Amino acid sequence: MPSLFNPLQLGSIDLPNRIFMAPLTRARAGREGVPNELMARYYAQRAGAGLIISEATGISREGLGWPNAPGLWSEAQVDGWKTVTQEVHRAGGRIVAQLWHMGRLVHSDLGGGKPVSSSATTAPDFAHTYEGKKPYEEARAATQADIDRIIGDYVTAARNAIEAGFDGVQIHGANGYLVDQFLRDSDNHRDDAYGGSIDNRLRFVRQVLEAVGGAIGMDRVGIRFSPNILVQGVEDSDPIALFTELAKLLEELRVPWIELREPYKATSAGSVPTEPVSPAMRQHYSGKIVINSDHDWIDARVRIAAGTADAVSIGRLFIANPDLVKRIAIDAPLNPGDPRTFYSGGPEGYVDYPALGEQEAA
Ligand SMILES: Cc1cc2nc3c(=O)[nH]c(=O)nc-3n(C[C@H](O)[C@H](O)[C@H](O)COP(=O)(O)O)c2cc1C
Repeated sequence: MPSLFNPLQLGSIDLPNRIFMAPLTRARAGREGVPNELMARYYAQRAGAGLIISEATGISREGLGWPNAPGLWSEAQVDGWKTVTQEVHRAGGRIVAQLWHMGRLVHSDLGGGKPVSSSATTAPDFAHTYEGKKPYEEARAATQADIDRIIGDYVTAARNAIEAGFDGVQIHGANGYLVDQFLRDSDNHRDDAYGGSIDNRLRFVRQVLEAVGGAIGMDRVGIRFSPNILVQGVEDSDPIALFTELAKLLEELRVPWIELREPYKATSAGSVPTEPVSPAMRQHYSGKIVINSDHDWIDARVRIAAGTADAVSIGRLFIANPDLVKRIAIDAPLNPGDPRTFYSGGPEGYVDYPALGEQEAA
C-alpha cells in the first residue's frame, strides 16, 4: 500500500514524497508583481514538500486582481522567479507555478481594464484594491477575440514559467476564478459554443489545457478545481455530472495530475461540507489525484492507502511550519499560524516561522 512517504511521479516530475505545499497567496511581490529575495527564502525554507505549488500568479495585468501578488508576463517577473526556483532547487525541492486569471474578480483599479468573465455578471462581496476593498464591478462577457487572447496569455505565462526554471505549471481552475466562471452554471449564462451544455462549458478549459500542453508538454501540466463548494459566488447545479465529464476530458487530454479542493470538515468560507466528488472523478480519470482542504495526514494516509487519492496538499500548516514534512515524519509538535500576517507584506509571519532545530536553539 502506498504511503505519504513513497515517491510519486507526476508526468515528468519525480517527487520524493506525497505531502505537497498547497498554493498560497502571500502578497509579497510589490505592485509590479515581481518576485524577490524574500520570496525565494520563504519558498526555499519549504523545499521539503514533495511539491511546492506556487501562490497564484497572474498570467496578465488584466487577469491579476490581488494587490502585491506576482505575475508571469514581464521579463522582470521571469527574472524574479528565476531566483525563487534556483533557491528551491538548491534546497532540494521542486516547484510548479500556479497560473491565474481572476476573471470577474479583478477590479479595474488594478490597471487591467474592466473585468472580463464568461458572462456579464457581478461577483458578490468586495474586490481587493490598493485603496482597500471596493464592490466588484460588472464583468463584460468575453468575446471570441478575448478568449483567443486569454488563451494566448496562458501559453505565454506557461512558457515564461519554464524559462524561469519552474518544473511545470498548475492551471488555477478553482475558487470561482475565470476557468471556474466558464465551468459552473451559476456564472456561465452563455448561449454560444462556450455555454449551456456541459460539453460547451468544458470548452474553455479544454482549449486552455490543449494550448498550454501543446506549448510546454502536457507532462508538465496540472490543474486545480474546487468541485462542489460555493466559492466567490460560483457553484454548479449538478457537480457530479459536471466533474464526471471533466474527469473524462482530463483523461482524454492525458493531464497527468489534478488537485481537488473539496470540503472536508468545513470550508474557510463557512459553507456546508458536501460529499467529495473525487471518488466519481476517480472512476474516469487515471492520472494522479491530490486532495486538499482541511485534510490532515491521518485521513490523507487512509485515502492514499485506499487508492482514492495519491497525495495531499496542505495550505495553512505549511505557512507556519516550513519543515512540515519532517514534523509529520517524526510526529513533532506544530507551530501555530497567525492569519493576521497571511497577506500583510514583509518578513513577519512569512520567513520567521522556525524549523525544528532552530526552535530548540532559540
Ligand atoms: C492565505 C491563503 C492564501 C491562499 N491562496 C491560494 C492561492 O493562491 N491559490 C489557490 O488555489 N488557493 C489558495 N488558497 C487555498 C489553499 O490552497 C487551500 O485550498 C486552503 O487553505 C485549504 O487547505 P488547508 O486546510 O490545508 O489550509 C489560499 C488559502 C489561504 C489560507
